[in-house]
Amino acid sequence: MTEVAVEAADGKAEQVHQDMRDEILAALRQPQPELPSKYFYDDRGARLFERICTLPEYYPTRAELAILEAYAADIAAELGPGCEIVEPGSGEGVKIRRLLSALDRPSVYRPIDVAGAQLDEAAATLRAEYPRLTVTPVHADFTRPLDLPPAQGRRVFFFPGSTIGNFLPEEAIGLLRQWHAVAGTQGRLLIGVDLRKDPETLRAAYNDAAGVTAEFNRNILRHINRALGADFVPEQWQHEATYDERSGRVEMWLQALRDQRVQLPPDAPLDFRAGQRIRTEYSCKYAIEEFEQLAGRAGWGPICAWTDPDALFSLQLFRAA
Ligand code: AVJ
Repeated sequence: MTEVAVEAADGKAEQVHQDMRDEILAALRQPQPELPSKYFYDDRGARLFERICTLPEYYPTRAELAILEAYAADIAAELGPGCEIVEPGSGEGVKIRRLLSALDRPSVYRPIDVAGAQLDEAAATLRAEYPRLTVTPVHADFTRPLDLPPAQGRRVFFFPGSTIGNFLPEEAIGLLRQWHAVAGTQGRLLIGVDLRKDPETLRAAYNDAAGVTAEFNRNILRHINRALGADFVPEQWQHEATYDERSGRVEMWLQALRDQRVQLPPDAPLDFRAGQRIRTEYSCKYAIEEFEQLAGRAGWGPICAWTDPDALFSLQLFRAA
């Protein structure tokens, strides 16, 4: 690597760090303090989330894998040959393998993720498994505007896991609109959407008996401590997950167990009172038609929606034009 390239890489890392600090400070200083849920996922957070996916109460991962298993051939038939797959927030890649293995000669796979090292590692593994596939990782925050080269074959946005639920409906529309703009007229969207269901099932899914979700929630504070030199005491924050049936929204919170002052040098400290809460995540649930309407407002037209036998989760396919 040349010196210039090293400088450029360092400059980028610094910028990312500054963006994270600004974003977190602004969110914590709101009348209702918040933290952006994407900051759950440092290495430990990613591992805790993998454990969540295996919990008896957390049905989404199992349900979505069952849908992919049962309908992969139908999905592949709908998508046709030679597709280019774009996966925002790609992570570890069990689901993409199910899709790629079912597809007829997919041309290109573009995983998009902020975790650069993991992204390159995952790409190398995938290249070895699918030698005829071109794997082109995009090291980026998928919530920011996307710059992609022209599509090679039909461009399919693959967004499993109901990550779309982390965005409020208006934000979700904005995101889907951005993807629509770069999908092309032949473009498709294959998206995992968690469904509305009885409140007890939902509350249990986000309040597991083993306490893994609580640890995952508090991990956002550990991540911020390490990344920004803050001094949150995770043990002084209690996990809470609520479900509002009217809006179809699960919300995760961290509640201060006592008055506390948090240092975020070089900025002024933040004071929290006992009982005060920080919202750490939205997880919006939809009825199938409700999500079709939302996607419609971003320009996407419904083709098909698949569900698991218990109708807990859906995988929905849309066309750009
Ligand atoms: C990865 C965003 C889909 O909202 O269910 C799991 C994250 N939060 N348990 C979700 C999560 C608490 C998950 N998503």
